[in-house]
Amino acid sequence: MPKREKSQAVFDRAMNVLSKGVSSNFRYWGPDSTPVVKRGKGAMVWDADGNQFIDYRLGWGPIILGHADDRVNEAVAKAIENGTTFAATTELEVEVAERLVEMVPGMEMLRFTNTGTESTMHALRVARGCTGREKFIKFEGQYHGAHDYVLFSTASSAIEDLGHRDAPLAAQIGGGIPAKIKEYLYLLPFNDFEAVEKTVIDHHDEIAAMMIEPCLGNISGLEPDEGFLEHLRKLCDDHGIVMIFDEVKTGFRLVNGGAREAYGVIPDISTYAKSLGNGYPVAAFGGKREMMEQIGSGSITHAGTFGANGSSMAAAKAVLEILKASPVLRDLSRRGERLKAGMDTVLTDAGIPHQMTGHPNMQGFLLTETPAKEVRDLIHHNDELYDAIAKHLYENGVWVEMDAREPLFICEAHSDEIIDETLNRFEDAVASSKK
Ligand SMILES: Cc1ncc(COP(=O)(O)O)c(C=O)c1O
Repeated sequence: MPKREKSQAVFDRAMNVLSKGVSSNFRYWGPDSTPVVKRGKGAMVWDADGNQFIDYRLGWGPIILGHADDRVNEAVAKAIENGTTFAATTELEVEVAERLVEMVPGMEMLRFTNTGTESTMHALRVARGCTGREKFIKFEGQYHGAHDYVLFSTASSAIEDLGHRDAPLAAQIGGGIPAKIKEYLYLLPFNDFEAVEKTVIDHHDEIAAMMIEPCLGNISGLEPDEGFLEHLRKLCDDHGIVMIFDEVKTGFRLVNGGAREAYGVIPDISTYAKSLGNGYPVAAFGGKREMMEQIGSGSITHAGTFGANGSSMAAAKAVLEILKASPVLRDLSRRGERLKAGMDTVLTDAGIPHQMTGHPNMQGFLLTETPAKEVRDLIHHNDELYDAIAKHLYENGVWVEMDAREPLFICEAHSDEIIDETLNRFEDAVASSKK
């Protein structure tokens, strides 16, 4: 382990005042190993002991340009001189919304929130409000945030808890959720054309929405099979179901127009957060005008004190301007492809059965002989070897999540040199982990 005296001292204090010493369950690694970060710049982060890491977690995806990006920080610093929260519309907010409408295909109207969780919660409410139906389809292994309706059969669920593939069970994540909530859900395996079709045909009268991560941003970036999203689009169209893309991870990361553009399928509503603010808390949901116009005037509620606050809007405006002005995401894909090809070669040369997954800007590698298309296939995954590789990387200054389900994220600041250095260390990690 890298030295951690200072980190441990801070974490011991954290354990006294923060539940499990963290502000999100997934940040807790254990009493003696939970990391404490001091700062980040570009593609690098430093922990409280000064250990430096090439960062592929990027805060679980939001950092698209680089940590502490000067262009974004300067825009925020300037904007906050004028105040941040007014309980009123601002011109800055309108400018960001206009930019979003311009960049995202089929986006007609939106509302800002602060987190992905708020966005998926409101998107679901809009779908229910517009259709007058209450249930929705959710795919196993997808994570849509921390509100009650979606905390079932996510990336964190044990595969044994998902039940039989033909009759999936709702695996609840944690306590405190009313038992009846699961009755609002149809849980289905991703990429299963027939299972969705059957559920829709049998139950469409009660299904308000399909909530879809267009590629599995919480399962190693696994992508939809050819025609799968189109199949879902058609089922939604034929049966009056609202198609929701959860683009919290894919939005402003895959390409400028997100998964809508990358996969050429336009949902009715989609949700955004993460990359939109390069680390500032900003999120949005939006889509078809006829649906978004139902919000307000007492018909469908969306509210929030901090929605479209000045610091987040300034960050989002800067991010969108940068993405629009230069081919950031295209260049990033080129470097992401190099990383992917390099890791593929290392694993192949080492004779390790594996599958390279995901879009180059949000990619992963699974250590499995059986090709994975959805979360249940991870039952064949070699978790032990993955852990050993991830741990060796961490001990040698490359930080990927200690869990194959979370993709590696690339940002503008991951230069070719950084990718090369990563590949060198990856080769060492694989060699030393392979027994
Ligand atoms: C696809 C997806 N949707 C929604 C969320 C929830 O976003 P937030 O953590 O900002 O509430 C996440 C978080 O990782 C996510 O990956």
